[in-house]
Amino acid sequence: MLASGLSRGVGVIGAGYVGLTLSVFLASKGVKTICVEKDRVKVRKIMDGVSPIHEQGLPELLHHVVRNGVLEARDEIGDMMERVEIVFITVGTPTGSDGVPDLSQVKEASRQVGEAMSTSRAARPLIVVKSTVLPGTTWHVVRPIIEEVSGRSCGDGFHLCVNPEFLREGSALQDTMNPDRIIIGAKHSEAAERLKKFYEALYHPSKIPTIITTPTNAELIKLATNAYLALKISFINLISQICEATEDGDVGVIAEGLGLDPRIGPLFLRAGLGFGGSCLPKDLRALRWFAASRGVDTSLLEAIIGINRAQRLRAVEKAESMLGGLSGKRVAVLGLAFKPGTDDIREAASIDIIRELLARGAEVRVHDPAALENARQVLGESVTYCSGLYECLNGADLAIIATEWPEYADIDPSTIKSLMRKTLIIDGRRILNTRRLMEEGIRVHTVGLHNPLA
Ligand code: UGA
Repeated sequence: MLASGLSRGVGVIGAGYVGLTLSVFLASKGVKTICVEKDRVKVRKIMDGVSPIHEQGLPELLHHVVRNGVLEARDEIGDMMERVEIVFITVGTPTGSDGVPDLSQVKEASRQVGEAMSTSRAARPLIVVKSTVLPGTTWHVVRPIIEEVSGRSCGDGFHLCVNPEFLREGSALQDTMNPDRIIIGAKHSEAAERLKKFYEALYHPSKIPTIITTPTNAELIKLATNAYLALKISFINLISQICEATEDGDVGVIAEGLGLDPRIGPLFLRAGLGFGGSCLPKDLRALRWFAASRGVDTSLLEAIIGINRAQRLRAVEKAESMLGGLSGKRVAVLGLAFKPGTDDIREAASIDIIRELLARGAEVRVHDPAALENARQVLGESVTYCSGLYECLNGADLAIIATEWPEYADIDPSTIKSLMRKTLIIDGRRILNTRRLMEEGIRVHTVGLHNPLA
């Protein structure tokens, strides 16, 4: 019997942020883990002990668990079913701009699991959907596929749960090690109890608040959480627009005041260029689509999305007005990742801003301590990639801080003055000491700060 209470191991389908972090964490707790990933390059990297994603703490632990043989990655499910008790499905669920979810990976994973179960003697494996899906997907899409392909019925031949993930990129391992809650959705109480016991043993002696509910409620909790986080960000960004237009307005102080109200709380009230990443925008679109398909008024969700879009455009418009036109002007964009601590540029504010700057005729130079290569895949040769911050600022007419990497907060005023052609800055993430820079003769527009001189 392992520390997790299991007599056999765990399988994980999909080695993205969620799947890989979960696999490494489980293996670090001594749970024999098999991670199935169709991308062979990723599999090879993992088996070489190299992390395919940029995530704090992950490379060291990954290397350790692979070397010790507790974690195995492979591109085929093979005999996995004979060796595991629980299988987590952690594949991606992208959405188009209309929010319609693309379930192809979830369906494929369900088929794979069903097929492996059809030839396996393993009794009642527990299948757990961790991918973010719309309400009803686990019961009405995943279950029928597994039942049909495996020839087993849910409840007798296998157990099925929904168990959404709440980890954040940049602190994925920490969040997986210390979750604030565990949500389990199941139709059969025995299935839910199995997963609950597994987690109790895994996190012992910590007691993680756990909710057991129906699959649809569990699926909806995940989407509602991300929509609410996005709502907080768009709300504070709306207030930031009001602050910019109000004498002495400073959204930082407003957020502080708001955050002291325990009914509101201080987190997710950082105004700036809005939310990006692979989750908040996508999940919001999916929820909007789902709500609309049920005849529910989606105007609040539309407003959250609209404010987020406007926040990016406002930065470009401000740049245009500060420079008196963008055509032929050199703009340095500092930060490409959708947030610091990651090399992920999916739906990053920086990308929209850069595309708009280019469309308006600017010459764009970019810097990011981690995401340059990922950006190159998307932006191609349309911009100049700078591995050094100073190289990026060199000869620029204006700089926009698009990601709050700590090193940008400490840019020295004399360096700015010696390198930039014009000393104009848009602090899209509110990390600079605006007053100090203004005293040095540098014009800074800080999002959410009333500054008639900027
Ligand atoms: C988000 C959620 O925070 C996780 O709980 C969830 O598990 C994850 O999505 C997911 O569904 O997989 P993540 O996308 O990693 O996590 O990033 P966040 O830390 O939520 O930040 C999202 C975006 O909001 C970033 O662009 C960030 O810069 C922005 N943000 C965040 C703000 O503009 N202001 C804030 O106050 C907070």
